[in-house]
Amino acid sequence: MSAVTRPRVGVTRRLPEAVEAALRERFDCVFPESQQELDANALIALMRDCDALLPTVTDRIDASVIGAGAGRCRMIANFGVGVNHIDIEAATNAGIVVSNTPDVLTDDTADLTMALMLAVMRRLGEGERAVRAGAWAGWHPTQFLGRRLSGKTLGIVGLGRIGRAVAQRAEKGFGMKVIAWSRSKRRGSEAGTLIQRVNRLEDLLAESHVVSIHCPLVPTTRHLISTAQFASMRPEAVLINTSRGPVVNEEALVAALEDGRIAGAGLDVYEDEPRVHPGLLAREDVVLLPHLGSATVETRVAMGMRALGNLEAHFAGGEPPDRVP
Ligand code: 8YV
Repeated sequence: MSAVTRPRVGVTRRLPEAVEAALRERFDCVFPESQQELDANALIALMRDCDALLPTVTDRIDASVIGAGAGRCRMIANFGVGVNHIDIEAATNAGIVVSNTPDVLTDDTADLTMALMLAVMRRLGEGERAVRAGAWAGWHPTQFLGRRLSGKTLGIVGLGRIGRAVAQRAEKGFGMKVIAWSRSKRRGSEAGTLIQRVNRLEDLLAESHVVSIHCPLVPTTRHLISTAQFASMRPEAVLINTSRGPVVNEEALVAALEDGRIAGAGLDVYEDEPRVHPGLLAREDVVLLPHLGSATVETRVAMGMRALGNLEAHFAGGEPPDRVP
């Protein structure tokens, strides 16, 4: 591509150096000056000025942004697999192609999910806080007793790529019994795994020692886990969420923890990021991470390269490999 004909790509956040260098080689790039989140007006201005946008999860690209920003911008190449922050229908109606970055973050997100399970069950956050606070007076036999993860029953809500990767780790690494529920049963077979599908979410909740959320955020999954679902869970069960915060009703989660209806939670995502419910912040039985699912050097570079591949395919006149939907 010659310098004159290079498409202009508006990137909403600073990305790993290798990704920025690769983008600069192929496109006329606009990078932000800081890691500050862009507001609607800044997003609209960037869309108007560019042939494509490369946004992240924190950019709210709703129908009004698309309506005001559409024109020159023909593509939104999202950096991330989840696209709940983009109004896909509005983009499609405006003739804008949307893509995401699946696959490359599956393993890291699954790894982090296992880390959260262990952290909650074995009280790692609580123990670490005690050591740092100088509150650890020495070992004794009944101190910080947690619950064993190995051999327990894991209930996976949403059996897509990440749900399957978690199931594999739980089954092969921790000898867990894995059961799963998803809204659609079409996706893939369970060949080569011991995963048992259950027909009703309530049945999964009633049986699991660990419930782990892996469904996307769509209208039908908003507050999928709320008061009634917590009532179905075992009192010693813990909830893990590395998908999207609004799948869980945080108010109901806090109430369930306070009433002892469940035993703990491990969260990487929140209803209103970066705000965290004060009722969660106050509790020792929850582990709270700052949306770290895909946060490794390897994966963030791979995500950037995947977004770049989608942009290249689009501007070469083809179909981006990860077009959504
Ligand atoms: C990313 C994620 O950090 O890919 C996703 O959907 O939630 C995270 O792993 C984020 O989306 C980057 O934009």
